[in-house]
Amino acid sequence: MTDYTPTRADKFSFGLWTVGWQGVDVFGSAIRPPMEPAVAVHKLSELGAYGITFHDNDVFPFGSSGAEREERLKPLRTALEDTGLAVPMVTTNLFSHPVFRDGGFTNNDRDVRRFAIRKVADNIDLAAELGAETFVAWGGREGAESGASKDIRAALDRYKEAFDLLTSYALDRGYPMRFAIEPKPNEPRGDILLPTIGHALAFINELEHSEIVGLNPEVGHEEMAGLNYAQGLAQALWHGKLFHIDLNGQHGPRFDQDLRFGAGNARGAFWTVDIVESGGYEGPRHFDFKPPRTEDIAGVWESAAGCMRNYLILREKTRTFRADPQVRDALHDARVDDLARPTLAPGETLEALRAETFDPEEAGRRGMAFERLDQLALEYLYGVRG
Ligand code: GCO
Ligand code: MN
Ligand code: MN
Repeated sequence: MTDYTPTRADKFSFGLWTVGWQGVDVFGSAIRPPMEPAVAVHKLSELGAYGITFHDNDVFPFGSSGAEREERLKPLRTALEDTGLAVPMVTTNLFSHPVFRDGGFTNNDRDVRRFAIRKVADNIDLAAELGAETFVAWGGREGAESGASKDIRAALDRYKEAFDLLTSYALDRGYPMRFAIEPKPNEPRGDILLPTIGHALAFINELEHSEIVGLNPEVGHEEMAGLNYAQGLAQALWHGKLFHIDLNGQHGPRFDQDLRFGAGNARGAFWTVDIVESGGYEGPRHFDFKPPRTEDIAGVWESAAGCMRNYLILREKTRTFRADPQVRDALHDARVDDLARPTLAPGETLEALRAETFDPEEAGRRGMAFERLDQLALEYLYGVRG
């Protein structure tokens, strides 16, 4: 049996806020003690991760002075040096403090918008200093609960203004950094702006430096909207916009569960790993999950290790699935390869196509043979094949 022990070559990364989550939710207070970032770095390194990511305020409190900030960053820097762990991504907390009650970049209050841009610019400098290649923007508080309170078109103007400013800043400074928008349909706001991969892709097209803005799609966020995450990733890849990923688990449309990767929709996880491994994505396999409130610290590490182990199990399953001669035959019978052929031959004209004779009755009787193909996939997933 394959050894599912992660190595740094697997490029697994974790947010400090994931293993560090104290379990505060809308119905209850903290059930775990705070975790020092340096402790998380050492433990994640031991478990096989290659990197960590964080929000500014996961490391230093909101409102910290320059000196306080440096003091909090010091043990983190030491832990990164000692372990050799990377910081491939950094993000900003524009959602916890009361000042962000109506969001940051799209807050109706102009002073707050100006403050949010300053906070992000400061954090971009830190991200660049730590060598982060991706800067994530999750706009969880950018949205509304009611109709008249938010002029959506004006909010999108302000959202664009913020991205145009901050991307220009990163380019002017020569930071080799790309921005990744993380869509989410709702929670904490009733309706969040840029709710899905598709909305975000369309928004990116309107930006001044769209070439350095892409996506950070999260499993649970797409599934909360009833969407197919793997198909969303495939489209993001098709646009050249899959800059980063947030892997976790979710059981269909309900609150954001942030389960460990592989829990929740297991079939979705199978196709997610399949596209991540075969679609040309080269970034980190980043986990954004919340170890459930039922767990103590031992359970937290169990949960983190489970994310990586499940990924590796599914990686092996999807690889053997793709290499199986019966699967190859089934793919051919399903005419999957035929879809890769342009519909018109080189040089062929629409006129020639229109002159062609075709028997739709005969073609309409041909089955697509998809069930056999999907059954083979499920048998890999259920563990009776491969
Ligand atoms: C969520 C989000 C957040 C963001 C993170 C990055 O669960 O709604 O995933 O965890 O990813 O805050 O800014
Ligand atoms: Mn989430
Ligand atoms: Mn996320």
